[in-house]
Amino acid sequence: MPKIVPPRPFLKWAGGKTQLCNELLNRTPDFGRYLEPFVGGGALFFALVRAGKIKRAYLSDLNTELIDTYLAIRDSVDELIPELSIYEHKKDFFYDLRALDPDDMTQVKRAARMIYLNKTCYNGLYRVNQQGKFNVPFGSYKSPLICDRENLLRVAEALQNIEIECASFEAVVKKARKNDFVYFDPPYEPLSKTANFTSYQPGGFNQEAQTQLQQVCEKLHSRQVKFMLSNSAAGLIRELYNGNGYQIDEVKANRAINSNPKRRGKLTELIVTNYPIASKNS
Ligand SMILES: C[S@@+](CC[C@H](N)C(=O)[O-])C[C@H]1O[C@@H](n2cnc3c(N)ncnc32)[C@H](O)[C@@H]1O
Repeated sequence: MPKIVPPRPFLKWAGGKTQLCNELLNRTPDFGRYLEPFVGGGALFFALVRAGKIKRAYLSDLNTELIDTYLAIRDSVDELIPELSIYEHKKDFFYDLRALDPDDMTQVKRAARMIYLNKTCYNGLYRVNQQGKFNVPFGSYKSPLICDRENLLRVAEALQNIEIECASFEAVVKKARKNDFVYFDPPYEPLSKTANFTSYQPGGFNQEAQTQLQQVCEKLHSRQVKFMLSNSAAGLIRELYNGNGYQIDEVKANRAINSNPKRRGKLTELIVTNYPIASKNS
């Protein structure tokens, strides 16, 4: 019998939650629908798919190219695979493709470009400049797996019947109903001014946005929607979620992407829930 391999994230994403996944899974409640409004690479979503816990879901993010990639995989994987499989791991090809304007491309070509650049760029990091143009240099991988056909097919299958939208996180308020579960993984509040990690898009995610997100959480809480949020252990985050009976747990995570290698190491991060979690040590 061939081994059935479940879907994995198809992009490496800055701030991706692969290594915190077990901590997050252990805190996931029973739920009706799953909503993830900062989906990025979707580490928790795919872990929940593998655990057989997703019946209906809504995934969104403000990054248009990212959402187009999800949509192209969901709706056009049979066109996407042949397109991506002819892309070569060569410096000239990389810079020619990087220079193209995704707005002038079809959704399938835009998705192929996004996956290709993600698999071959330095550190697999998604970063844009002030003009919103992807600006990460060529990476020196020996033979990166650019077109992981089997995984793309499994991801396409997992995304059938999933609602996917390019939207800011506030849109989740209109979508979520009682007994739904929302997982928020926003860009982290920096621990210090110099720690200010890259922009996912121009404009970044400032303190005002963190405060608006907390207000969204309040609205969901008042409607008996369950939510879980991960963020840095910055003072602002502790202040914003200190109340309402929210639970704030501290977890340790390896910082995966930091431009200064000396600053990689175990960091305390916060997981906030509006429902109680039994302590693992009790
Ligand atoms: C920390 S990453 C999410 C990582 C994801 N959990 C994973 O496992 O890969 C944060 C995401 O928030 C998105 N984002 C930034 N501002 C946003 C906004 N206002 N509304 C929705 N998404 C936003 C970014 O595009 C990025 O994908």
